[in-house]
Amino acid sequence: MSKVSQDNLPWIEKYRPNSLDEVYGQDSITSTLRNFIKNSSADNNSISLPHMLFYGPPGTGKTSMVIALAKEIYGADNYRKNILELNASDDRGIDVVRNQIKDFASTRQISFGASNKKNLKMFKLVILDEADAMTNIAQNALRRVIEKYTKNVRFVILANYSYKIIPALLSRCTRFRFQPLPIESSYQRIKNIITFESIRVEDEAVMAILRISKGDMRKSLNILQACNTTLGIEEKESIDEDMVYECVGLPTVKDIETCLNSILNDSIQTSYYTLMNLQKDKGLALIDIINAFVNIIVEYDIDVSKKQILLVKLSDLEYGISKGGNNNIQTSAMIGLIKNLLV
Ligand SMILES: Nc1ncnc2c1ncn2[C@@H]1O[C@H](COP(=O)(O)OP(=O)(O)OP(=O)(O)O)[C@@H](O)[C@H]1O
Ligand SMILES: [Mg+2]
Repeated sequence: MSKVSQDNLPWIEKYRPNSLDEVYGQDSITSTLRNFIKNSSADNNSISLPHMLFYGPPGTGKTSMVIALAKEIYGADNYRKNILELNASDDRGIDVVRNQIKDFASTRQISFGASNKKNLKMFKLVILDEADAMTNIAQNALRRVIEKYTKNVRFVILANYSYKIIPALLSRCTRFRFQPLPIESSYQRIKNIITFESIRVEDEAVMAILRISKGDMRKSLNILQACNTTLGIEEKESIDEDMVYECVGLPTVKDIETCLNSILNDSIQTSYYTLMNLQKDKGLALIDIINAFVNIIVEYDIDVSKKQILLVKLSDLEYGISKGGNNNIQTSAMIGLIKNLLV
Protein backbone atom coordinates (compact mmCIF):
# COMPACT_ATOMS: atom_id res chain seq x y z
CA MET A 1 0.00 0.00 0.00
CA SER A 2 1.34 3.45 -0.88
CA LYS A 3 2.31 5.88 1.86
CA VAL A 4 -0.50 8.30 0.93
CA SER A 5 -3.26 5.69 1.16
CA GLN A 6 -1.73 4.38 4.41
CA ASP A 7 -1.82 7.91 5.85
CA ASN A 8 -5.53 8.24 5.13
CA LEU A 9 -6.37 5.13 7.07
CA PRO A 10 -7.60 5.27 10.64
CA TRP A 11 -4.80 4.01 12.85
CA ILE A 12 -6.81 0.98 13.92
CA GLU A 13 -6.56 -0.21 10.31
CA LYS A 14 -3.12 1.17 9.56
CA TYR A 15 -1.76 -0.75 12.54
CA ARG A 16 -3.79 -3.93 12.18
CA PRO A 17 -1.31 -6.76 12.81
CA ASN A 18 0.04 -8.30 9.59
CA SER A 19 1.41 -11.42 11.22
CA LEU A 20 0.93 -13.44 14.39
CA ASP A 21 4.09 -11.76 15.74
CA GLU A 22 2.33 -8.41 15.67
CA VAL A 23 -0.61 -9.57 17.78
CA TYR A 24 0.33 -8.41 21.26
CA GLY A 25 -0.63 -9.78 24.65
CA GLN A 26 -2.29 -13.04 23.53
CA ASP A 27 0.87 -15.15 23.66
CA SER A 28 -0.61 -18.51 24.60
CA ILE A 29 -3.14 -18.32 21.76
CA THR A 30 -0.48 -17.25 19.25
CA SER A 31 1.81 -20.11 20.21
CA THR A 32 -1.02 -22.67 20.09
CA LEU A 33 -1.92 -21.51 16.58
CA ARG A 34 1.71 -21.68 15.52
CA ASN A 35 1.89 -25.23 16.85
CA PHE A 36 -1.18 -26.23 14.84
CA ILE A 37 0.54 -25.04 11.68
CA LYS A 38 3.96 -26.46 12.53
CA ASN A 39 3.02 -29.90 13.84
CA SER A 40 0.44 -30.77 11.28
CA SER A 41 2.50 -30.81 8.11
CA ALA A 42 4.90 -33.59 9.02
CA ASP A 43 2.57 -36.54 9.57
CA ASN A 44 -0.23 -36.35 7.04
CA ASN A 45 0.92 -33.74 4.56
CA SER A 46 -1.90 -31.42 5.48
CA ILE A 47 -2.49 -28.61 7.93
CA SER A 48 -4.73 -29.81 10.71
CA LEU A 49 -6.54 -26.89 12.19
CA PRO A 50 -9.67 -27.41 14.26
CA HIS A 51 -12.79 -25.31 13.97
CA MET A 52 -12.23 -22.50 16.42
CA LEU A 53 -14.12 -20.04 18.56
CA PHE A 54 -12.32 -16.82 19.44
CA TYR A 55 -14.18 -14.95 22.14
CA GLY A 56 -13.49 -12.05 24.46
CA PRO A 57 -13.96 -8.31 24.91
CA PRO A 58 -13.81 -5.83 22.00
CA GLY A 59 -10.48 -4.60 20.67
CA THR A 60 -8.39 -7.48 21.96
CA GLY A 61 -7.32 -8.86 18.59
CA LYS A 62 -9.82 -11.57 17.59
CA THR A 63 -10.39 -10.37 14.03
CA SER A 64 -6.72 -9.37 13.74
CA MET A 65 -5.58 -12.80 14.91
CA VAL A 66 -7.64 -14.70 12.36
CA ILE A 67 -6.55 -12.42 9.49
CA ALA A 68 -2.92 -12.78 10.59
CA LEU A 69 -3.39 -16.55 10.75
CA ALA A 70 -4.87 -16.59 7.23
CA LYS A 71 -1.94 -14.53 5.94
CA GLU A 72 0.46 -16.95 7.58
CA ILE A 73 -1.24 -20.00 6.05
CA TYR A 74 -2.00 -18.74 2.54
CA GLY A 75 0.49 -15.89 2.13
CA ALA A 76 -0.31 -12.16 2.11
CA ASP A 77 -1.19 -12.16 -1.61
CA ASN A 78 -3.48 -15.16 -1.63
CA TYR A 79 -5.29 -15.12 1.65
CA ARG A 80 -8.29 -13.13 0.44
CA LYS A 81 -9.28 -15.81 -2.07
CA ASN A 82 -9.28 -18.46 0.60
CA ILE A 83 -11.36 -16.84 3.27
CA LEU A 84 -15.02 -15.94 3.48
CA GLU A 85 -15.65 -13.18 5.97
CA LEU A 86 -19.17 -12.55 7.20
CA ASN A 87 -19.76 -9.54 9.40
CA ALA A 88 -22.62 -8.34 11.57
CA SER A 89 -23.56 -5.80 8.91
CA ASP A 90 -24.39 -8.64 6.55
CA ASP A 91 -27.73 -10.31 6.60
CA ARG A 92 -27.28 -13.01 9.22
CA GLY A 93 -30.49 -14.91 8.72
CA ILE A 94 -30.87 -18.55 7.89
CA ASP A 95 -30.43 -17.88 4.15
CA VAL A 96 -26.91 -16.58 4.59
CA VAL A 97 -25.92 -19.70 6.45
CA ARG A 98 -27.54 -21.96 3.92
CA ASN A 99 -26.46 -20.24 0.71
CA GLN A 100 -23.44 -18.01 1.02
CA ILE A 101 -21.47 -20.34 3.26
CA LYS A 102 -22.51 -23.39 1.29
CA ASP A 103 -21.46 -21.81 -2.01
CA PHE A 104 -18.06 -20.94 -0.66
CA ALA A 105 -17.61 -24.15 1.30
CA SER A 106 -18.54 -26.49 -1.50
CA THR A 107 -15.96 -25.18 -3.97
CA ARG A 108 -12.49 -26.55 -3.49
CA GLN A 109 -9.57 -24.55 -2.24
CA ILE A 110 -8.16 -22.88 -5.32
CA SER A 111 -4.89 -21.20 -4.61
CA PHE A 112 -1.85 -22.51 -2.83
CA GLY A 113 -0.04 -19.42 -1.64
CA ALA A 114 3.61 -18.66 -2.12
CA SER A 115 4.09 -19.39 1.56
CA ASN A 116 2.85 -22.94 1.05
CA LYS A 117 6.23 -24.19 0.01
CA LYS A 118 5.63 -27.75 1.16
CA ASN A 119 2.61 -27.99 -1.14
CA LEU A 120 0.32 -29.07 1.66
CA LYS A 121 -3.25 -30.12 1.27
CA MET A 122 -5.18 -27.11 2.43
CA PHE A 123 -8.61 -25.91 3.36
CA LYS A 124 -10.46 -22.63 3.19
CA LEU A 125 -11.48 -20.52 6.15
CA VAL A 126 -14.96 -19.25 6.89
CA ILE A 127 -14.76 -16.40 9.39
CA LEU A 128 -18.01 -15.64 11.15
CA ASP A 129 -17.42 -12.30 12.82
CA GLU A 130 -19.74 -11.21 15.65
CA ALA A 131 -21.40 -14.62 15.64
CA ASP A 132 -23.10 -13.87 18.95
CA ALA A 133 -25.43 -11.61 16.96
CA MET A 134 -26.67 -14.57 14.91
CA THR A 135 -30.08 -15.96 15.66
CA ASN A 136 -30.25 -19.39 17.31
CA ILE A 137 -31.97 -20.75 14.22
CA ALA A 138 -29.08 -19.60 12.04
CA GLN A 139 -26.58 -21.08 14.50
CA ASN A 140 -28.46 -24.36 14.45
CA ALA A 141 -28.39 -24.45 10.68
CA LEU A 142 -24.66 -23.85 10.83
CA ARG A 143 -23.83 -27.04 12.71
CA ARG A 144 -24.94 -29.18 9.78
CA VAL A 145 -22.96 -27.00 7.36
CA ILE A 146 -19.87 -27.32 9.56
CA GLU A 147 -20.06 -31.10 9.58
CA LYS A 148 -20.75 -31.36 5.90
CA TYR A 149 -17.78 -29.28 4.75
CA THR A 150 -15.19 -30.17 7.37
CA LYS A 151 -13.18 -31.90 4.65
CA ASN A 152 -12.05 -28.68 3.00
CA VAL A 153 -13.28 -25.85 5.21
CA ARG A 154 -12.47 -24.65 8.72
CA PHE A 155 -14.77 -22.32 10.60
CA VAL A 156 -13.48 -19.58 12.86
CA ILE A 157 -16.28 -18.15 14.94
CA LEU A 158 -15.68 -14.75 16.54
CA ALA A 159 -17.78 -13.49 19.40
CA ASN A 160 -17.68 -11.26 22.44
CA TYR A 161 -19.64 -13.67 24.62
CA SER A 162 -19.32 -17.44 24.40
CA TYR A 163 -22.61 -17.96 26.26
CA LYS A 164 -24.47 -16.53 23.28
CA ILE A 165 -23.20 -19.36 21.09
CA ILE A 166 -25.37 -22.48 21.17
CA PRO A 167 -23.85 -25.54 22.91
CA ALA A 168 -23.95 -27.61 19.72
CA LEU A 169 -21.58 -25.15 18.03
CA LEU A 170 -19.40 -24.78 21.12
CA SER A 171 -18.77 -28.51 21.20
CA ARG A 172 -17.57 -28.44 17.59
CA CYS A 173 -14.97 -25.74 18.21
CA THR A 174 -11.73 -25.37 20.11
CA ARG A 175 -12.25 -22.34 22.30
CA PHE A 176 -9.77 -19.48 22.75
CA ARG A 177 -10.49 -16.78 25.27
CA PHE A 178 -8.99 -13.39 24.42
CA GLN A 179 -8.09 -11.35 27.48
CA PRO A 180 -8.01 -7.56 27.72
CA LEU A 181 -4.45 -6.63 26.71
CA PRO A 182 -2.10 -6.61 29.71
CA ILE A 183 -0.79 -3.12 30.43
CA GLU A 184 2.81 -4.00 29.44
CA SER A 185 1.73 -5.29 26.02
CA SER A 186 -0.48 -2.29 25.25
CA TYR A 187 2.29 0.02 26.45
CA GLN A 188 4.81 -1.61 24.15
CA ARG A 189 2.47 -1.47 21.15
CA ILE A 190 1.51 2.17 21.74
CA LYS A 191 5.17 3.14 22.19
CA ASN A 192 6.04 1.48 18.86
CA ILE A 193 3.28 3.36 17.09
CA ILE A 194 4.33 6.65 18.70
CA THR A 195 7.86 6.10 17.40
CA PHE A 196 6.57 5.13 13.97
CA GLU A 197 4.41 8.26 13.75
CA SER A 198 7.22 10.43 15.18
CA ILE A 199 4.92 12.17 17.64
CA ARG A 200 5.73 13.32 21.14
CA VAL A 201 3.62 11.86 23.89
CA GLU A 202 4.35 12.27 27.59
CA ASP A 203 4.53 9.05 29.55
CA GLU A 204 1.66 10.12 31.84
CA ALA A 205 -0.46 10.56 28.73
CA VAL A 206 0.32 7.03 27.55
CA MET A 207 -0.59 5.70 30.98
CA ALA A 208 -3.85 7.70 30.94
CA ILE A 209 -4.75 6.22 27.54
CA LEU A 210 -4.12 2.71 28.85
CA ARG A 211 -6.14 3.35 32.02
CA ILE A 212 -9.10 4.64 30.04
CA SER A 213 -8.95 1.83 27.45
CA LYS A 214 -8.76 -1.02 29.98
CA GLY A 215 -7.04 -3.42 27.59
CA ASP A 216 -9.09 -2.45 24.51
CA MET A 217 -6.41 -1.73 21.91
CA ARG A 218 -8.90 -0.30 19.41
CA LYS A 219 -9.91 2.28 22.00
CA SER A 220 -6.25 3.10 22.79
CA LEU A 221 -5.44 3.71 19.13
CA ASN A 222 -8.55 5.81 18.56
CA ILE A 223 -7.74 8.02 21.55
CA LEU A 224 -4.11 8.38 20.47
CA GLN A 225 -5.14 9.38 16.95
CA ALA A 226 -7.74 11.85 18.25
CA CYS A 227 -5.09 13.44 20.50
CA ASN A 228 -2.70 13.63 17.57
CA THR A 229 -5.29 15.53 15.54
CA THR A 230 -5.82 17.93 18.46
CA LEU A 231 -2.06 18.37 18.69
CA GLY A 232 -2.07 19.64 15.10
CA ILE A 233 -4.95 22.04 15.73
CA GLU A 234 -3.72 23.44 19.04
CA GLU A 235 -0.11 23.57 17.87
CA LYS A 236 1.13 22.07 21.11
CA GLU A 237 4.48 20.32 21.30
CA SER A 238 3.45 17.05 22.82
CA ILE A 239 0.41 15.10 23.94
CA ASP A 240 -0.06 15.44 27.70
CA GLU A 241 -2.34 13.78 30.23
CA ASP A 242 -4.93 16.59 30.21
CA MET A 243 -5.23 16.41 26.45
CA VAL A 244 -6.07 12.72 26.68
CA TYR A 245 -8.86 13.34 29.21
CA GLU A 246 -10.19 16.28 27.19
CA CYS A 247 -10.20 14.24 23.98
CA VAL A 248 -12.42 11.58 25.51
CA GLY A 249 -14.55 14.07 27.44
CA LEU A 250 -13.40 12.88 30.86
CA PRO A 251 -12.52 15.25 33.73
CA THR A 252 -8.82 16.08 34.00
CA VAL A 253 -6.90 15.71 37.25
CA LYS A 254 -7.21 19.49 37.68
CA ASP A 255 -11.00 19.39 37.15
CA ILE A 256 -11.35 16.81 39.88
CA GLU A 257 -9.13 18.84 42.20
CA THR A 258 -11.29 21.91 41.56
CA CYS A 259 -14.46 19.94 42.40
CA LEU A 260 -13.07 18.37 45.55
CA ASN A 261 -11.49 21.59 46.82
CA SER A 262 -14.73 23.43 46.33
CA ILE A 263 -16.82 20.76 48.07
CA LEU A 264 -14.41 20.61 51.00
CA ASN A 265 -13.83 24.36 51.41
CA ASP A 266 -16.74 26.35 49.96
CA SER A 267 -20.38 26.69 50.94
CA ILE A 268 -22.90 24.21 49.50
CA GLN A 269 -24.19 26.92 47.20
CA THR A 270 -20.75 27.89 45.82
CA SER A 271 -19.67 24.31 45.28
CA TYR A 272 -22.99 23.54 43.59
CA TYR A 273 -22.39 26.34 41.06
CA THR A 274 -18.75 25.36 40.63
CA LEU A 275 -19.74 21.80 39.76
CA MET A 276 -22.64 22.78 37.54
CA ASN A 277 -20.51 25.30 35.62
CA LEU A 278 -17.73 22.79 35.17
CA GLN A 279 -20.17 20.23 33.77
CA LYS A 280 -21.69 22.82 31.46
CA ASP A 281 -18.51 24.54 30.25
CA LYS A 282 -16.46 21.42 29.67
CA GLY A 283 -19.24 19.05 28.73
CA LEU A 284 -18.41 16.71 31.61
CA ALA A 285 -20.79 14.05 32.83
CA LEU A 286 -21.52 13.74 36.56
CA ILE A 287 -21.08 9.98 36.31
CA ASP A 288 -17.45 10.48 35.21
CA ILE A 289 -16.81 12.89 38.08
CA ILE A 290 -18.21 10.30 40.51
CA ASN A 291 -16.05 7.64 38.92
CA ALA A 292 -12.93 9.78 39.45
CA PHE A 293 -13.98 10.47 43.08
CA VAL A 294 -14.37 6.76 43.74
CA ASN A 295 -10.84 6.12 42.46
CA ILE A 296 -9.51 8.80 44.81
CA ILE A 297 -11.58 7.78 47.84
CA VAL A 298 -10.54 4.12 47.59
CA GLU A 299 -6.94 5.24 48.09
CA TYR A 300 -7.73 8.10 50.50
CA ASP A 301 -6.57 7.80 54.08
CA ILE A 302 -9.81 8.27 56.06
CA ASP A 303 -11.75 6.42 58.71
CA VAL A 304 -12.73 3.01 57.26
CA SER A 305 -16.40 3.18 58.27
CA LYS A 306 -16.73 6.64 56.68
CA LYS A 307 -15.04 5.31 53.57
CA GLN A 308 -17.49 2.43 53.36
CA ILE A 309 -20.54 4.65 53.71
CA LEU A 310 -19.18 7.08 51.13
CA LEU A 311 -18.50 4.36 48.58
CA VAL A 312 -21.89 2.71 49.03
CA LYS A 313 -23.71 6.04 48.72
CA LEU A 314 -21.71 7.05 45.67
CA SER A 315 -22.70 3.77 44.04
CA ASP A 316 -26.36 4.60 44.84
CA LEU A 317 -25.90 7.97 43.14
CA GLU A 318 -24.31 6.32 40.13
CA TYR A 319 -27.24 3.92 39.92
CA GLY A 320 -29.67 6.84 40.23
CA ILE A 321 -27.99 8.67 37.34
CA SER A 322 -28.01 5.57 35.15
CA LYS A 323 -31.75 5.25 35.80
CA GLY A 324 -32.26 8.80 34.52
CA GLY A 325 -32.18 10.70 37.85
CA ASN A 326 -32.20 14.49 37.66
CA ASN A 327 -28.64 15.78 37.18
CA ASN A 328 -29.01 18.89 39.40
CA ILE A 329 -30.43 16.86 42.28
CA GLN A 330 -27.79 14.15 41.96
CA THR A 331 -25.05 16.80 41.89
CA SER A 332 -26.33 18.45 45.06
CA ALA A 333 -26.78 15.05 46.72
CA MET A 334 -23.15 14.23 46.00
CA ILE A 335 -21.99 17.53 47.47
CA GLY A 336 -24.12 16.97 50.58
CA LEU A 337 -22.81 13.44 50.96
CA ILE A 338 -19.13 14.34 50.73
CA LYS A 339 -19.51 17.38 52.96
CA ASN A 340 -21.38 15.33 55.53
CA LEU A 341 -18.72 12.65 55.78
CA LEU A 342 -15.46 14.49 55.07
CA VAL A 343 -15.79 18.06 56.32
N1 LIG B 1 -3.71 -7.97 20.50
C1 LIG B 1 -3.52 -6.91 19.69
N2 LIG B 1 -2.27 -6.58 19.26
C2 LIG B 1 -2.07 -5.52 18.46
N3 LIG B 1 -3.06 -4.71 18.01
C3 LIG B 1 -4.31 -4.98 18.41
C4 LIG B 1 -4.61 -6.11 19.25
N4 LIG B 1 -5.92 -6.14 19.48
C5 LIG B 1 -6.45 -5.11 18.82
N5 LIG B 1 -5.49 -4.40 18.16
C6 LIG B 1 -5.69 -3.18 17.38
O1 LIG B 1 -7.08 -2.83 17.46
C7 LIG B 1 -7.73 -2.96 16.20
C8 LIG B 1 -9.03 -3.71 16.38
O2 LIG B 1 -8.77 -5.04 16.78
P1 LIG B 1 -9.66 -6.28 16.34
O3 LIG B 1 -10.56 -5.87 15.22
O4 LIG B 1 -8.76 -7.42 16.11
O5 LIG B 1 -10.49 -6.47 17.68
P2 LIG B 1 -11.58 -7.58 18.01
O6 LIG B 1 -11.07 -8.36 19.18
O7 LIG B 1 -11.94 -8.32 16.78
O8 LIG B 1 -12.78 -6.66 18.51
P3 LIG B 1 -14.39 -6.86 18.33
O9 LIG B 1 -14.81 -7.83 19.40
O10 LIG B 1 -14.94 -5.49 18.60
O11 LIG B 1 -14.63 -7.33 16.94
C9 LIG B 1 -6.75 -3.70 15.30
O12 LIG B 1 -6.80 -3.24 13.99
C10 LIG B 1 -5.41 -3.38 15.90
O13 LIG B 1 -4.94 -2.18 15.37
MG1 LIG C 1 -13.63 -8.30 15.54
